Amino acid sequence: MASRRYAVLAGVVLASIWLWLAFDRESIPAHRIWYGPSPSKGGLISPSIDAFDFPPVDSEEMRAVCSSTKWNQSLVFTCDNNHGGIGHVRNSILNCVRYAIGAGGALVLPNIALRDEDDMGHDHSHPEKRHGPGRNGMEYMFDVEHFVDSLRMSCPEMLLMRHMEETFSPRRRGLLPEHLFDNVPAGGLEHPEEWPIRLKAWIEEHMPSYPEKEPIIVDLEQSFLHYPTHSDGHKFAHSFGNILKFRSDVRRLATTTLNKLSEWYEMPLNVSEPIMTPSFMGAHLQTDNPFLEQRHNSDVAFAHFPAQTAAYIEQAVSAKIPLMYVASGNLPEIHKLGLQATGSNIAVTHKEDLLKEKDMDVLERLRWDQRALVDYLVLLKAQDFAGVGHSSFSWQIVMTRHEGGNKKKGVLESDVWSDGISTLYGVRSSYVESSQCMWS
Ligand SMILES: *[C@@H]1O[C@H](CO)[C@@H](O)[C@H](O)[C@H]1NC(C)=O
Ligand SMILES: *[C@@H]1O[C@H](CO)[C@@H](O)[C@H](O)[C@H]1NC(C)=O
Repeated sequence: MASRRYAVLAGVVLASIWLWLAFDRESIPAHRIWYGPSPSKGGLISPSIDAFDFPPVDSEEMRAVCSSTKWNQSLVFTCDNNHGGIGHVRNSILNCVRYAIGAGGALVLPNIALRDEDDMGHDHSHPEKRHGPGRNGMEYMFDVEHFVDSLRMSCPEMLLMRHMEETFSPRRRGLLPEHLFDNVPAGGLEHPEEWPIRLKAWIEEHMPSYPEKEPIIVDLEQSFLHYPTHSDGHKFAHSFGNILKFRSDVRRLATTTLNKLSEWYEMPLNVSEPIMTPSFMGAHLQTDNPFLEQRHNSDVAFAHFPAQTAAYIEQAVSAKIPLMYVASGNLPEIHKLGLQATGSNIAVTHKEDLLKEKDMDVLERLRWDQRALVDYLVLLKAQDFAGVGHSSFSWQIVMTRHEGGNKKKGVLESDVWSDGISTLYGVRSSYVESSQCMWS
């Protein structure tokens, strides 16, 4: 077996606190390194099929950025403040990685903050909730091996650490990178290339220069829509997001959902296509539920059930698509929409309707935010999509679909945005600008 290599950056004392891992090309396969059971255990569904699998990112553009970075052996970033739903979490993790690359620092594998499901009036079936929400590793949503392999391949200089204790040190401090910039327009930082210089100045100002042997640790706070994703070119922007791939049980459930839909509605589907045409219309129903992004309040008309569902039904009718797949954490509202849609001869379905027996068990064992990932994947491939402008979940889907589709430029008319394969309702022009800071 090839050798395992630990890079010890600091003294013996620190080495006992952290487990450093230098991932070089010759090291043993990542799955031999990771601790803990694989998240995808369980009596699964035709395990050979996975419409949402793809190989680790092998990007020339990322390698170019990484090889031109000045790497600093004594700088370490953590990325543990990833809160919210998938739209927020995905973007903030990607921003952490981008900032760590920019500064040439090591990165501790990101963690994901759990949401208190009780607070949101959902799901009382998980015993761990009694202890309040905590943190999970990346495997809560993502395929960790894929993340590690992608970075190893496309940014081989970057050092990844699997874990770091919450130590106290005068050379450790939290930072929201955007705070180092005076002016952050809606379209994102004007000069992201200034980040390493600004960080250096901040470190000099806030951290003691001794003991030199002790690394400088920067705990990155949640960064959302401020990093201009296209600042390293379009190719970089479009491969970078693929370092995150959803965990395999979620991918398989989404594939099964599509297969069941295909069987049930006797609709032949090629699940290998990024956008399946003809197929169904995907809709993200996000009404007055507790997941409404806090930044935007619900005085927006499309935040409410009547306006949202009327718009979605009208879109399906005018696109002549008789089947709507609805993503929502609120089942009664899906049923309500289903009744309403029969008047227009549109059938409504959803994952809980399509998944049966073992698959349903697998779904039910997932937490709220994990179940939403199944919808996310299904919606990516729909012929047409409808969502809401105030939701990062909707936006994230739109951005990814855009890359897989015909790439027609999006147009905003009054408060409806559309690029021909996706439509968002209740969009302000500042949201469109901010979308340039969302990794597709
Ligand atoms: C690494 O970064 C720290 C903090 O900015 C700085 O003090 C140190 O000189 C850097 N080391 C190298 C080798 O650039
Ligand atoms: C399914 O789609 C993929 C990707 O577009 C394509 O390569 C393949 O030929 C298609 N398969 C069939 C049976 O049409």
